[in-house]
Amino acid sequence: MMRKIIIAPSILAANFLKLESELNAFNKIENMWFHLDIMDAHFVPNLTFGHPIVYQLGKCARHPLDAHLMVDNPTFYINTFVGYNIHNLTFHFESTVHHDSLIHNIKNNYPSVGISLNPCTSVDVLPDYLLTMVDVVLLMSVNPGFGGQKFIPYIYSKVEKLNLRREQLNAKFQIQVDGGIEESQAADLIQRGADNLVAGTYIFSSPPYDARISLLRPNS
Ligand code: DX5
Ligand code: ZN
Repeated sequence: MMRKIIIAPSILAANFLKLESELNAFNKIENMWFHLDIMDAHFVPNLTFGHPIVYQLGKCARHPLDAHLMVDNPTFYINTFVGYNIHNLTFHFESTVHHDSLIHNIKNNYPSVGISLNPCTSVDVLPDYLLTMVDVVLLMSVNPGFGGQKFIPYIYSKVEKLNLRREQLNAKFQIQVDGGIEESQAADLIQRGADNLVAGTYIFSSPPYDARISLLRPNS
């Protein structure tokens, strides 16, 4: 059976002056999410976009919204993004010590919950009971904060290790990888067990976007 691979274009790399038509360019493509990088200039040095833009994107997007919180205070965003039509909400493991509480807060208010690890954070920090609670584990393949960075190769072994643990636990979470992904990395990541790939620069720097997405998942 062919595995379903989701591609999640990172809106950070889109043309912000025509966001609606940028989103509409993906309307005919299947198995896609729109990845929204929410940065607060504290957890990461950079600042992106916040509530007014996310709200408008939620009204016009024809694919599920995937919000990636890179913020010091995830609880504020979890509470205030309710009603914004977000499908998956991911927070960083490193941004809190209250993992169980945040997971339950998201589960109570959104269809899907994700937890993210910085490149140097080992997958061993995630206990089995957490892995059975979440829908997405996001492995960062660049240091969070900026689009257009270079993929960090040791992430391949993290994907393999997480995939093995998923099999052992018979858990259902998706393995999402984010940062610096082009077609060569995509094939290696999918082969090792990744099923959800975020790509910004690679997709938006070279239209037509559907051709780029086909190159990221050639066999699916
Ligand atoms: C980095 C962000 C990524 C980034 C991906 O902090 O979380 O989602 O925008 O963009 P590219 O594919 O350009 O690395
Ligand atoms: Zn991201």
